[in-house]
Amino acid sequence: MDLPRSELDAVLASMGVKDALAVGRYGGGHINDTFRVCAASGAEYILQRVNTGIFTDVAALADNVRTVTGHLKAKGARTIDVVAFEGPWRLYRFISGCTSYDVVQTPAEAFAVALAFAKFQDELSDLDASRLHEILPGFHDTALRLRHLDEAARADVMGRRAEVAAELAFVDARRGMATTISSMTASGAIPLRAVHNDAKANNVLVPKSGDGDGVVIDLDSTMPGSALCDFGDMVRSSSATAAEDEADLAKVGASRDLFEALVAGYLEGARFLTREECALMTLAGRISTLEVGMRFLTDYLAGDTYFKTAYPGHNLVRARNQFRMVESLEAQERDFAAIAGCPAQPVG
Ligand SMILES: Nc1ncnc2c1ncn2[C@@H]1O[C@H](COP(=O)(O)OP(=O)(O)O)[C@@H](O)[C@H]1O
Ligand SMILES: [Mg+2]
Repeated sequence: MDLPRSELDAVLASMGVKDALAVGRYGGGHINDTFRVCAASGAEYILQRVNTGIFTDVAALADNVRTVTGHLKAKGARTIDVVAFEGPWRLYRFISGCTSYDVVQTPAEAFAVALAFAKFQDELSDLDASRLHEILPGFHDTALRLRHLDEAARADVMGRRAEVAAELAFVDARRGMATTISSMTASGAIPLRAVHNDAKANNVLVPKSGDGDGVVIDLDSTMPGSALCDFGDMVRSSSATAAEDEADLAKVGASRDLFEALVAGYLEGARFLTREECALMTLAGRISTLEVGMRFLTDYLAGDTYFKTAYPGHNLVRARNQFRMVESLEAQERDFAAIAGCPAQPVG
């Protein structure tokens, strides 16, 4: 249901904008309610209502956004300009003259996206990550994700377990590798950093002029974590040859050209990476993809309660798609490791 204009005007007025002319739904985000606001003064804004079903502590969220944008601004980096926070609402200045990619199509686009996230991480590499609230606890704790899958399979509330026996076996064969990065982060073997945690292409606004770097937006899940989870999610989402819910598995896989461009863009910006982190770049792509596939499979077993689905079996299609993507990354491990300049990691 859409929000009445009078309610939006009241929210805007409470944030100091009393001359809104046009307020309309904006963007293709799946999490928050986003509106573009044009004021009589000529100023333009993004008004958002945070999804409190996912982000339960809006004060902590606002605090994180202020900490991150404050740090970036102090260093002269381009970032979101916060006007106000008001409960679940917030107002940002509209970043104009930019475009974004819902799906990465070309190596040049992959390069721009990876470079933007790498520079974002680089600018934050001197921010004490413990200053950020863990806004989504256990988000990349793959041991916890495995437990959730096991519990959903054991409970089998929808009677779907037999149907997904092959997918459960697929995960079983990869339990060891699945927890590598989360356990190394927990033990301190790889550093805990302030990272984005939603490194999708459409969270980068790329200047249309071609001048300057892309601006990273959607800072809601920025919190302490591993830089590799962002890189891994870029591989998962931006080297794929098909959408994450493509049902024709023959179309699903990782593109060598897109992977190469992601690595080039990422390494150009991520000057802070340690030798240990560099060595895990290919594994990161496989783990992030397996993790998301596991979450789709868990949701399918649990009765599709978390992810929005468009048709029965949508989550199973997504899980199978992600697992095919894992297989494609595994098949290209040696080649991709050579591209990233890291040792090939064992498969399984
Ligand atoms: N400051 C901004 N300036 C211009 N466009 C923005 C800004 N913030 C968000 N957007 C647009 O709104 C869309 C949704 O915002 P986002 O913060 O990514 O929400 P979601 O969490 O729902 O993905 C973005 O993909 C982008 O197109
Ligand atoms: Mg977004």
